[in-house]
Amino acid sequence: MPARTTGQPPTIKLAFSSDSPTSATLDALVLAVPPGDDAWQGSLADVDSALDGALRQALNDASFDGKVGSTLTIPTLGRLPAKRIVVTGLPATGAGTVDTRRAYGAAVAAAAKAGAKNVAAPAPGGPDDEVARYRAAVEGVLLASYDFRGYKASRGEDSGIDSWTFLTAETDAARKGVAEGFAVASGIYLARDLVAEPGQTIYPETLAAAAKQMATDNELDYREYDEKQLAEMGANAIVDVGKGSVHPPRLLHLTYTPTGESKGTIAFVGKGITFDTGGMNLKPTGGIETMKTDMAGSAAVLGAMRAVAGLDLPFTVYGIIASAENMPSGTAFRPGDVLTALNGKTIEIISTDAEGRLVLADALVYAAREGADEMIDLATLTGAKMIALGAESVAVFSNDDDFAARVVEAGTEAGDLFWHMPLWDALKKQIKSDIADMKNSGGRGGGAITAALLLAEFTEGKPWVHLDIAGAAWADSARDDTPKGPTGIGVRALVNYLEAKARQ
Ligand code: BES
Ligand code: MN
Ligand code: ZN
Repeated sequence: MPARTTGQPPTIKLAFSSDSPTSATLDALVLAVPPGDDAWQGSLADVDSALDGALRQALNDASFDGKVGSTLTIPTLGRLPAKRIVVTGLPATGAGTVDTRRAYGAAVAAAAKAGAKNVAAPAPGGPDDEVARYRAAVEGVLLASYDFRGYKASRGEDSGIDSWTFLTAETDAARKGVAEGFAVASGIYLARDLVAEPGQTIYPETLAAAAKQMATDNELDYREYDEKQLAEMGANAIVDVGKGSVHPPRLLHLTYTPTGESKGTIAFVGKGITFDTGGMNLKPTGGIETMKTDMAGSAAVLGAMRAVAGLDLPFTVYGIIASAENMPSGTAFRPGDVLTALNGKTIEIISTDAEGRLVLADALVYAAREGADEMIDLATLTGAKMIALGAESVAVFSNDDDFAARVVEAGTEAGDLFWHMPLWDALKKQIKSDIADMKNSGGRGGGAITAALLLAEFTEGKPWVHLDIAGAAWADSARDDTPKGPTGIGVRALVNYLEAKARQ
């Protein structure tokens, strides 16, 4: 199976038009409708009166509740140039960016389901500033339209919408919001594509090729270290985890440099295990099937770098990825082995299935040595995190409470379930080894915490946040702005974090 081009940007055409909702010829007109019977002004009132009150009647008849995520598709039966109206619930005031994104996402999913190609809506409303409103609406439209067509014979047949038009004059703020929404959605598309690809096509070399392509397309600096260079450098943890596979490991380092003065260097560090069999501690049936997603941390880092390239931020941003395929074989590392990480600390291997923390150990030391002022790592690190907080959640660990709080806020603002977890020193005894500086598994109890405690040994005194995203990279069923499948978890939170930091 050949590796394909991944991370194509969204292809939906985004436009502005001076046509009015009552005069535009469309497959679907999307209208945001608040709950309750009040606030029927502007476009809503215009369309309703063009239909002699039939819109209001239809909503009443269907008991439309106006809640975010609720939609209703109403045929116009030739009484309007638009073939159908898709109403989507959204509070007139008090709807923040998360609600806006979800409401527009739900609307575009309903429009696509009705077979609409050419879709439009009036200017998005709400209390946020104009840029934020357009950005959120565009994110919703593009993200809900994501479709990994995969390897079905029917791929190429496009089931989604072709164009989305805002029926309003194009202001500078609107254009900026659309461009920002497109940049973020492009980053999330890339992350989703990479996670959706099977381990058969995405392994360290092809992940590197995708990263290099993205870096070239977006004028980011790109560096790559192969297995020989890693061994020379002393990044033995990455080398050892990767040595059981025919696909050798890689360390990738992308850099975004701001146009103006840089106010500091932030490193995003991603776990890029392209397939996690568990190694010699082979995962059983029931645990191994989803392990192509074990590079979701690195996908989020690449997605964030793609988004950052389309925004204007005053920081130097590193995207650092430690990639290996964890395989059992005659050349694989074994339980009982002791390996020496990049900073000279030694780790006794208890389980070859606790491999993510090993590759991240080297990557964190590398990031610190490359001059990062602060580091955020993302990793599908532990099953224990899913037991503690559920699959959708993001567990946040840090050696700096204020830093953690700002990352939790950025994630919450992104609409995700971020939760600050303790990094208790008292649990460190669980990873004490008799023969090395530490061991790579602390047993079942507090498994997400002991994994984070091991990472903390490799932060070289830098402020650091660790995001355990195990389970969160894949949605088992569709949500308003996320079809079933890869979610792109982490991209928007990282972008939000940098933007909030820029405002500080
Ligand atoms: N990639 C897994 C964690 C994981 C599990 C992510 C399920 C997503 C879904 C990780 O490498 C792993 O195997 N962790 C072990 C650690 C244990 C051996 C100490 C785990 O959590 O069971
Ligand atoms: Mn594992
Ligand atoms: Zn893993």
